[in-house]
Amino acid sequence: MQTLSPDWRGPTRSGYARARTAQPDWNMNIGPWKLSGRVLLAPMAGITDLPFRQLCRQWGAALAVSEMLSADPTLRKTRKSQWRATLADDECPRVAQIAGADPVALAEAARYNVQRGAQVIDINMGCPAKKVCNRMAGSALLADEPLVRRILTAVVSAVEVPVTLKYRTGPSPERRNAVAIARMAEDAGVAALTLHGRTRVQAYQGQAEYRSVEAVCRAVDIPVVANGDIDSPDKARQVLDETGADAVMVGRAAQGRPWLFQAIHTYLETGTRVATPSLAVRKQTLLTHLREIHRFYGDWMGPRIARKHIKWYLQALQVDRCHVQPLMQPTAPEAQRVAVADCLSRLNEAPAAAPA
Ligand SMILES: Cc1cc2nc3c(=O)[nH]c(=O)nc-3n(C[C@H](O)[C@H](O)[C@H](O)COP(=O)(O)O)c2cc1C
Repeated sequence: MQTLSPDWRGPTRSGYARARTAQPDWNMNIGPWKLSGRVLLAPMAGITDLPFRQLCRQWGAALAVSEMLSADPTLRKTRKSQWRATLADDECPRVAQIAGADPVALAEAARYNVQRGAQVIDINMGCPAKKVCNRMAGSALLADEPLVRRILTAVVSAVEVPVTLKYRTGPSPERRNAVAIARMAEDAGVAALTLHGRTRVQAYQGQAEYRSVEAVCRAVDIPVVANGDIDSPDKARQVLDETGADAVMVGRAAQGRPWLFQAIHTYLETGTRVATPSLAVRKQTLLTHLREIHRFYGDWMGPRIARKHIKWYLQALQVDRCHVQPLMQPTAPEAQRVAVADCLSRLNEAPAAAPA
């Protein structure tokens, strides 16, 4: 990871489009941060905590965004918020995602997270969850363009670090305003965009579309990241080629498969295909991940948080559900590690043939 000029708000942005078209393998920058690759980990509440982000970075994700952090200051002191807001030195750049609907509160939340070490602030306008949209936050904001403008302007002016926006293609298929929002973001000084190719009302249904991503890439000079249903090296290559996006962001496909980043990164950079890691490596990855979860959340919450990850890893290893179910019971960290190790010891190398 290297940095560009500290005076990034000027020349870096205006020169960006030329660099993108001139060099197809150009790695994007976010303000002063030049990324080391073109596959990024998507923020996922309840999943992309510090242990998972660090693991995905080790496997080749060029950036990992925190889980969303509410802009409501009354929620900051809860244990859950403290866990979510924990960023580590080795995450460089450290990206905190904020969610809310009030420009003043979001600007304050941006300042607060920068004080706590965030080096990039990402604004969430993509979450379709009722809990979030009922408060007119997340993707609900896309229906109110003047409010979007006020939020973007307020947050960009509140902090010295780059501000990015993650959003959807619009409130509904009848109203796709991704290009209008992208132009607004660029005008406001947003440093990069991530577009998930679904509208708010689609939630996670149907398939992501990338024509909107392509339209946004044509409309703005700032870097654009394509997101939605990218689950393999070929899909990543296809989406980059179709859209002209600068990078891809991967979410659900990395659950239980953090090595996917290595496969995508290597394919995008060199055109070569990496074999799925050996069974021994995958087992070790799961056990190390478990240890880090236990260390981060402690004896009580650690094993509870770990369960969903165990399930995803074992699904990816094609372990029969009847062997997975007993591992979903409440237990202590050491007992959980032993039970998982025991389950893994019964696997042989055969499932390693499954593609990354
Ligand atoms: C469980 C879950 C939690 C998510 N939490 C967030 C979040 O906190 N912030 C955000 O911007 N997007 C969130 N998303 C959306 C993802 O970042 C991503 O846009 C979406 O899953 C599509 O990408 P994928 O097909 O690669 O998973 C979440 C998605 C899931 C499945």
